[in-house]
Amino acid sequence: MCGIVGYIGERECSFLLLDGLKRLEYRGYDSAGMAVISNGKIDFHRSQGKLYNLEGLLRSKPIKGKVGIGHTRWATHGAPSEKNAHPHVVGSVAIVHNGIIENYLLLKRELIKRGACFLSETDTEVIAQLVYFYHQEGLNLEEAVRKAISRLKGSFAFLALSSKEPERLIAIRKESPLIIGLGKGEYFVASDAPALLPYTKRVIFMKDGQMAILSRGGLELKDFSGTPVPFQAVDLPWSPLMAEKAGYKHFMQKEIFEQPRAISDTVRPHIDLDKVEIFFEEFQITPNELREIEKIWFIACGTSWHAGLVGKYMFEKLCRIPVEVDLASEFRYRDPIINKNMLLIPISQSGETADTLGGLRKGKASGAKSLGICNVLGSTLSRECDCVIYTHAGPEIGVASTKAFTTQIALLYLLALYLASILNKIDLERKRAYLLDLLKLSGQINTILEHAQDIERLASKYKWARNFLYLGRGIYYPIALEGALKLKEISYIHAEAYAAGEMKHGPIALIDEDMPVMILAPKGETYTKVLGNMEEVISRRGKIIAVTEKDCREVKEKAKDTIFIPSTNPFLKTILLTIPLQLFAYYTAVFRGTDVDQPRNLAKSVTVE
Ligand code: G6P
Repeated sequence: MCGIVGYIGERECSFLLLDGLKRLEYRGYDSAGMAVISNGKIDFHRSQGKLYNLEGLLRSKPIKGKVGIGHTRWATHGAPSEKNAHPHVVGSVAIVHNGIIENYLLLKRELIKRGACFLSETDTEVIAQLVYFYHQEGLNLEEAVRKAISRLKGSFAFLALSSKEPERLIAIRKESPLIIGLGKGEYFVASDAPALLPYTKRVIFMKDGQMAILSRGGLELKDFSGTPVPFQAVDLPWSPLMAEKAGYKHFMQKEIFEQPRAISDTVRPHIDLDKVEIFFEEFQITPNELREIEKIWFIACGTSWHAGLVGKYMFEKLCRIPVEVDLASEFRYRDPIINKNMLLIPISQSGETADTLGGLRKGKASGAKSLGICNVLGSTLSRECDCVIYTHAGPEIGVASTKAFTTQIALLYLLALYLASILNKIDLERKRAYLLDLLKLSGQINTILEHAQDIERLASKYKWARNFLYLGRGIYYPIALEGALKLKEISYIHAEAYAAGEMKHGPIALIDEDMPVMILAPKGETYTKVLGNMEEVISRRGKIIAVTEKDCREVKEKAKDTIFIPSTNPFLKTILLTIPLQLFAYYTAVFRGTDVDQPRNLAKSVTVE
């Protein structure tokens, strides 16, 4: 949801900033721009559309300088266009911003009365106008920015430059992420780590309410009142290669194929198979406190919400504890009944999703304990939860989430087993068997991936469908939701998921020979019921693609096309069923020629409400 980058040092920075923007393009890609201090003046380029437009501009009209800021946009206020793209430059001041200024209209009116002339429809321009106004009145850039932020309401991370102070770059963080990368005599700033990885692993995660004043000679960190605050640099756990495509055509493809490694990195460190033990060093909640928990509450958005739905089945079945799952955007605006004996589990790949953070804050304010599941070290979620357990998926760059989802499920499975042991709901033999299943999982995923070409052929067969129905029952229903979401996100085919048993209450009316139906039909409690649902589809001439296990003869007989997954316990089948659905969506999108990694209108990290 907008990516920002900044640089101050001894290198020519325009292409360095562009490289950073390319690594953040997943955050927004409807327009882009950059400003550089060049011979004491602000020189800038902006362009509508993808970054290659900005790159073209830079090549035809290079801008030179060693201090600069850049932006890739996901429009909120004002349509994607050159004039609404960042940086917003007012006189000597240039600003790039991620977030929303809620009181921008009020401020805009006030500034217009004072003679300001606005050139864009964005909320961001008020920041530039305000900073310029105070700067003109005689305040230096730092003071002008400080005065401006005292007037702003909303969430913002922004970078400010002034041609009057060409040796300075100012970074502000309030409720939108910002990381400072430390080099030798140089500093980098970015919304997210992948932009910094090629240059440095040593970083400072800025906290809310902080301002960084960067010059070649050093770095100062202050709160918004101007008081210096201590800071600590840490090393990022990711290597630059992890944020590259590594020979794959798309990040999404790479991330699908990385899942065996990602899952094993996520769960392996927590398991001692000899002792049949699971341990979470990160856990700040004692076993006694865990025994007092009356309810678990998952909150999340998008794909992470689907992981929460799978978690509900696991925790209820294994731990016999009540579980609620809420879309964070709904949870935060209703009146949920929460108390201190509830464990709130926000799930988020990025740890920056505004609604999930809003839900977390609401739950904490009502006394609930919080345990975050997150993929990004140092993210806001990881800092605000009582404790956090990381999925070690590595950077996920494709906008459609894949490896983050399956690592979330794997971690939830392990957590459910851990809690079940503490609550004495599982015996040692069953626990050992479940752990063994988990350790076999990566190999089983590899078996599915080895047959990716079969799924590619299927995608080619169905690529022109206009609609798709996805059906699943029980714990596989959330996987149907996830499969349908993947297909619509990247191929733009309308896909709807239903709990198979609900089909006859509405969607059955849609079924005819033009409606392919993806049915999840592994063995298990609801197997025969799903066979019944298949009959209902067939008698209405619907075409079934079934995802099932090798020995499910009845499914193979009924379905037009069949995809097989290896057998495991019902909880982990959710992960195995997900892989073919990801591949199917991926290949369909490739055949349809869509932009797989950056589908239209979407952003990887939704940091606004
Ligand atoms: C966006 C992304 C999805 C993601 C959702 C939640 O919509 O496009 O892929 O599932 O945000 O993101 P989070 O980082 O909180 O998991």
